[in-house]
Amino acid sequence: MSLQQSNAADEAADGRKDKLLTVSNVERTFQVGGAPLHVLKGINMELRPKQLVMLRGRSGSGKTTLLNSLGGLDMPSKGEIWFDGRPFHSMNDHQRTLVRRKDIGFIFQAFALMPLLSAKENVELSLRMAGVKKSLWKERVEHCLAMVGLEKRMHHRPFELSGGEQQRVAIAKAIAHRPKLLLADEPTAELDTGMAAQIMSVFQTIIRTEEVTICMTTHDPTILEVADHVYEMVDGKFI
Ligand SMILES: Nc1ncnc2c1ncn2[C@@H]1O[C@H](COP(=O)(O)OP(=O)(O)OP(=O)(O)O)[C@@H](O)[C@H]1O
Ligand SMILES: [Mg+2]
Repeated sequence: MSLQQSNAADEAADGRKDKLLTVSNVERTFQVGGAPLHVLKGINMELRPKQLVMLRGRSGSGKTTLLNSLGGLDMPSKGEIWFDGRPFHSMNDHQRTLVRRKDIGFIFQAFALMPLLSAKENVELSLRMAGVKKSLWKERVEHCLAMVGLEKRMHHRPFELSGGEQQRVAIAKAIAHRPKLLLADEPTAELDTGMAAQIMSVFQTIIRTEEVTICMTTHDPTILEVADHVYEMVDGKFI
């Protein structure tokens, strides 16, 4: 590397300091029936520690596609994604999976719980995946379920829980391994207003107590009010 190049690299690294995630000029193109479909068209964004950031935009604008890239589930076609000092855009599947299991939690619109496992066992699953010692599971699982107000539902399986309760188990499961980043795709879409408000208050609590950063998508204008920052997506770009 020349001196000039290394200076430029240092400057870029300086710009990423104090940020958990930086996205520069990210594009994502899919090949559909032999033709390219440009879904993300030059996205720039950043997430700082303990922020609650929201993505809004019409159906098909590219929110889920972006969220998948932020979490290393998908790769950008162009551009860079740095997560906690690591270049997601140049890491392979296996490397990204290891980072994801340790440092990222996901919540999907349809709760993604294992149907035959109890709430407690569902939460344990992410500790197992993250390689947390078994002797630490009990306390952490109980703490996380208490945080979402479900300590009394520990032994219920998903079909024995309401929609809002299932979503709260999904939150407990997503944060159990102490991720730095929690990504949530329309986490309140299937809930009524009261339940949605409860979920948002759980989010605000865990940002404070677990020091996590949350990036979520939503269509709900009342929910957008509690965001530290809202990115508005139109046709694969922020406006
Ligand atoms: N794997 C894929 N292959 C081809 N096209 C895709 C793929 N994934 C997404 N797309 C297309 O990219 C566009 C954006 O999809 P995406 O799921 O990101 O939208 P969204 O903003 O999350 O919408 P919604 O609000 O409905 O969830 C859509 O037109 C979709 O058809
Ligand atoms: Mg979506």
